[in-house]
Amino acid sequence: MLTNTVQSTLAALISASGHGVISFAKVMDLALYLPTGGYYAGRPRRIGRKGDFYTSVSVGSLYGKLLAASVVKTWEALGKPADFSLIEQGAHDGQLMEDMHQGLLETGSPLADTAHFLIVEPQEGYRAAQAERLGPRLGDRLSWESGIEALVGGPQNAFFVTNELLDAFPVHRVQWTGEDWIEIGVGWDADSGEFIWRPMPGTADHLKAETDLLPRDLPAGHTTEVQPAAARWIKGVGRSLFRGALLIADYGLDDDEYDSIERPDGTLRRYWNHQMDGQVLSGLGECDLTTHVRFSRVKTAAAGDFDVALDTDQGRFLTKLATPWLQSLEGIPPTPQIAAQLRQFHTLTHPGQMGTRFRICLLTRGLNQPLS
Ligand SMILES: C[S@@+](CC[C@H](N)C(=O)[O-])C[C@H]1O[C@@H](n2cnc3c(N)ncnc32)[C@H](O)[C@@H]1O
Repeated sequence: MLTNTVQSTLAALISASGHGVISFAKVMDLALYLPTGGYYAGRPRRIGRKGDFYTSVSVGSLYGKLLAASVVKTWEALGKPADFSLIEQGAHDGQLMEDMHQGLLETGSPLADTAHFLIVEPQEGYRAAQAERLGPRLGDRLSWESGIEALVGGPQNAFFVTNELLDAFPVHRVQWTGEDWIEIGVGWDADSGEFIWRPMPGTADHLKAETDLLPRDLPAGHTTEVQPAAARWIKGVGRSLFRGALLIADYGLDDDEYDSIERPDGTLRRYWNHQMDGQVLSGLGECDLTTHVRFSRVKTAAAGDFDVALDTDQGRFLTKLATPWLQSLEGIPPTPQIAAQLRQFHTLTHPGQMGTRFRICLLTRGLNQPLS
């Protein structure tokens, strides 16, 4: 049964396709971003306890405050240029930018008063929410661009941050037949009234740049995702030419883990109301859809434009950034505020919680000295 605009739009597209099947990338794109009813369309949804899932940002302000230390290190490694921008894409309601700015303020960094804050945001409703939150503190140092293409000729020195952006990019689903990779798309089964997986007609030649990087010694039927949008994105950021750092925080795997025979159905998942499963064709438009990021592919696509300064888990990364703060607490009786921040630190860094689930890939270029 079709229960919303996303689903009726998809059913109409499938019917008009001539083959009764459209790519999963199209389905994911519309399920998340169709202006009339996509999961991420309109105004930003709540993330965190009252939303469908947690992110590191939604755990509390500590995450952004610690990332602010990485911003300062990058600025210092650039020789403290007078013009410096903090760029974010996937900024949602502006919470992370607010926390990073607050971190700069609390540590007395001059960047709190001098840096420019740029959000890459295509959606009007999101820009409005970001302006409400950030406008009063940042004034005319806050601006927006709709896409990364606009960064060409833009900021010269920058720290570009994304938290759980790439996992929300539409992906293609592919299957190994025993001889070749084919694309698995989505059709409509009128008898059951459900969306179903169906092979796309023809070969998956349009995905060759991605499938050529996949192993071929897999059992027939092995299914996974490829992420050309993430590769295009990183190349696009590369073209922007700013000196500084690009920090990608997300859940993800390198190819050997991603393409293990123990993961025969890929990593596609849906989230709703803090539940997660692989029934991604159910509840389209009402659930978040996501995949693990193929970090090996991100790094290959970045080669030539960026150096990999760091590729580690969130726990290690944040613990290093937090060391001066943790040392400053020694011997001080914890106030309720400090106790709350220590709880956030535990959630963000403990291996059993977010510490190893999330990964930090820090790419740099044009620094005068390595990051400390
Ligand atoms: C999983 S949410 C993460 C939100 C936030 N960064 C956080 O960590 O709490 C993914 C976000 O990416 C945004 N997004 C997806 N594609 C985007 C694009 N091309 N440009 C800007 N934002 C995008 C969505 O609108 C959504 O806000």
